[in-house]
Amino acid sequence: MRLKDKVIIITGATSGIGKALTVRAVAEGAKVLIHGISKEDGQKLLDHLGKSVALCIADLEDLSSPKKIVDCALDAFGQIDAVVNNAASIERSNLQQITPEAFTKTITINLQSALFLVQAAFAHLKKTGGNVLNIGSINAYTGESSLLAYSISKAGLQTMTRNLANAHGVDGVRFNLINPGWILTDREYADQIKKGLPENWPTKLGPENIPFGKMSTPEQLASACIYWLSDESKPFTGSIVDLEQFSIIGRNPEK
Ligand SMILES: NC(=O)c1ccc[n+]([C@@H]2O[C@H](COP(=O)([O-])OP(=O)(O)OC[C@H]3O[C@@H](n4cnc5c(N)ncnc54)[C@H](O)[C@@H]3O)[C@@H](O)[C@H]2O)c1
Repeated sequence: MRLKDKVIIITGATSGIGKALTVRAVAEGAKVLIHGISKEDGQKLLDHLGKSVALCIADLEDLSSPKKIVDCALDAFGQIDAVVNNAASIERSNLQQITPEAFTKTITINLQSALFLVQAAFAHLKKTGGNVLNIGSINAYTGESSLLAYSISKAGLQTMTRNLANAHGVDGVRFNLINPGWILTDREYADQIKKGLPENWPTKLGPENIPFGKMSTPEQLASACIYWLSDESKPFTGSIVDLEQFSIIGRNPEK
C-alpha cells in the first residue's frame, strides 16, 4: 500500500482521470475527499468505495469553494496529506471567438481555484509534510488552435507549480505537475464527436496521433500519479512531468 492512511483531496474526481485516480488511490490505502459538481456521479463513487471516501460538491467558479473543500476534507478525515488539482473546464476557444467572460471562467476554474485551494490547505500540508500534484496538459507548451484559453490556463498552472515549489521547499511541502498527453476519457470521447469525428474515432487514429496504436487511458495516468503523491517521490519538487506517446512534446497535431 503506497498511500496508506494518506488523506488526499482530488478535484474533479467524479469523472475521467480524477475518478480513475480516486479508485487507484483508495486501492493504495488512501482516504480521498472526492470533489465534483455532479452529486449523482459522486454518490455512485461513494457507494462503490465506502468509508475510504467522502464527497464535496462545489462549483470552482465560486470563489468560496476552495475553503469549503478543505473544510469538507478536515471534517471527514481530520488531516490533509495531498491535494490534486485535476478539475478543469475544457471549453474550446480561439482568438476570434474568445470573450472576456469565457476567458475569466476558464482561468477561474482551471488556475485561480487551484491556487486558492493550495492556500486554504497549506497549513495542513505543512503539518503532514504533504504535497500538491497539479494536472496540467501538454497544451501548456503551445496548445491546439481551438484551445486558446485552456492552453493559457495550463501554462499558468505550470509556472504556479514551480514558483510554489521554489518558495515552499523550506516548509517541507512539495509541488509537482503532470502534463498528460491525449487520454481517452468519456468527456474527451464526447468532445471529439461534437467536433465532428465519427463514433469510432479512437480506433481510426493514425501513428501521428497515437504512435503506440492505442490511446492512453485514465488508469495509466492514475498509475503514474501514485508515485508523485507517495513518499517514494520525496524530496523531489518543482517537477514538470510530461506523459505523452510522442517523443517531441509540443508537437500536438490537430485532430
Ligand atoms: N483527457 C485528456 O486528453 C487530457 C489531456 C491533458 C490534460 N487533461 C487534464 O486532465 C484533467 C481531467 O480531465 P478529463 O479528461 O478526465 O475530463 P473530465 O471532464 O472528466 O474531468 C474534469 C473534471 O472537472 C470538473 N469541473 C469542470 N468544471 C468545474 C467547475 N466549474 N467546478 C467544479 N468542477 C468542475 C468536471 O466536473 C470533471 O469532473 C483536466 O485537468 C484536463 O485538463 C486531460
